[in-house]
Amino acid sequence: MWGDPFRVAFAPPTISASLKGSPYIEHAMATEWTADEIRRVGRLVVDLIADHLTSLPGRPAFRPIPAALAQEMAATPPPADPVSPDDILRRFTETIEPYPFGNASCAGGNHAAIHLEREVLEWFRELLRFPRGAMGLLVSGGSMATMTAMAVARHVKSGVDVRQDGLRGAGAPFAFYMTTEGHSCARKAIELLGFGSASIRIVPTTDAYTMDVAALDNAIAADRRAGVRPIAVVATAGTTNTGAIDDLQAIAAVCRRHDVWMHVDAAYGGPAILSDRYGSAIAALAHADSAVVDPHKWMFVPVEAGFVIVRDGEAMRSAFSLVPSYIRTQGSAGEVYGQPWFSEYGFQQTRGFRALKVWMAMQQFGTRGYKAIVEENIALAQYLADRVRGAEDFELMAPSSLSVVCFRYVDASTAIEGADAEVAAAERESAAAALNRAVLERLQLSGEAFITSTELRGRFVLRACVVNYRSTREDVDRMLDAVRTIGREVGAATGLR
Ligand SMILES: Cc1ncc(COP(=O)(O)O)c(C=O)c1O
Repeated sequence: MWGDPFRVAFAPPTISASLKGSPYIEHAMATEWTADEIRRVGRLVVDLIADHLTSLPGRPAFRPIPAALAQEMAATPPPADPVSPDDILRRFTETIEPYPFGNASCAGGNHAAIHLEREVLEWFRELLRFPRGAMGLLVSGGSMATMTAMAVARHVKSGVDVRQDGLRGAGAPFAFYMTTEGHSCARKAIELLGFGSASIRIVPTTDAYTMDVAALDNAIAADRRAGVRPIAVVATAGTTNTGAIDDLQAIAAVCRRHDVWMHVDAAYGGPAILSDRYGSAIAALAHADSAVVDPHKWMFVPVEAGFVIVRDGEAMRSAFSLVPSYIRTQGSAGEVYGQPWFSEYGFQQTRGFRALKVWMAMQQFGTRGYKAIVEENIALAQYLADRVRGAEDFELMAPSSLSVVCFRYVDASTAIEGADAEVAAAERESAAAALNRAVLERLQLSGEAFITSTELRGRFVLRACVVNYRSTREDVDRMLDAVRTIGREVGAATGLR
């Protein structure tokens, strides 16, 4: 117990001891709140705010967090079991609330928010199995996380003093490697960092939409021979389009061989590291130089929350820090200044207390809760893929991976025959695209279900991504029924097949 006695009346934990051990009950209790429970917890929070603000004038202007508490926070492992809201708030009032810092900036210092962010970063480091010495940061989302990682890659791999001279002193052109399935934020980052999108090599993909690693190897070797300086490979663990997971182990070997920075975009797929089915494929991201996970995607944290981790924490610091190296210190947990500031590891100076919501959500679900939900979402996507496969008027458009399913509504009566099969196929393709575009728009406007679309090798497809712990088989059935009904109506009205 670190804090002052508190007036808020917390209820006993909502998960009774007799229910412990049943992941489904615990997970349901951690995620499904009744209206009364939402109101009750909301009132607790209002009481907490009222007590905090009205007691401030009687408190010291600043008091550093006790060193023993900071150490305790640093040593707290990622929560495995879901924690009740009362227990989360109780912990907040005991360890965080007593050590505020004005309109707290998480640039750095020795107040509770900083130590809480360090606790969260340590949780992620452990979950992603990055070594000690790695450094993480919470940022606005996957895009800013990717930008941060690419800036470190530039600092380390460009071969010039990019902070002083920019890229103009570089004798050789640069190259980055990604596939068509890599997220657009990587291209944005490469453009903004001054390399230009012309430096991006688009590596071919396999039938499963993963990076063709042999082609990657050849592309880097060809660039090296031609005097081009490869900077980074942007691999993906869970592509936006199809959920495909690149062969991270093999890509790591190629990167090592050619001395190229390996970045893994696990913005969406990262939490599936906890799943039995995809865990080992995603765990190979521990070989990367940098990786990104978005707590605001499959970890259900309110937007905005992105996480970036860089294996060489000192390289990250030297890419961003404006504290001269001769006065940089390792800091001290007991002083006002605290440990090295987060603002030395990224672009932002004043930073919000983003870690609080991530800390709360990670306790609310626990790693066991996340595992259960992620596996349920994956199973639901599998159910959708099976239903699509088993229906004559639906077509699966890509292997389903993680919780993404790409499919189309098709008119089962259309067949391609005869010598003009190629022409017929092209016509059918453009009609199918037009039909599905129309179906999607009407579906979205109907309010019945909201799925999106994408293009796979130039073909328009419908795309469903299950990332909601409340989604059920009934929702999937309803969505498919709606697509089918609208498909028939649009087909009849337009003649599109
Ligand atoms: C795989 C992947 N990477 C990166 C991003 C970008 O993340 P954000 O939108 O949080 O900036 C997204 C989604 O938007 C994504 O799906």
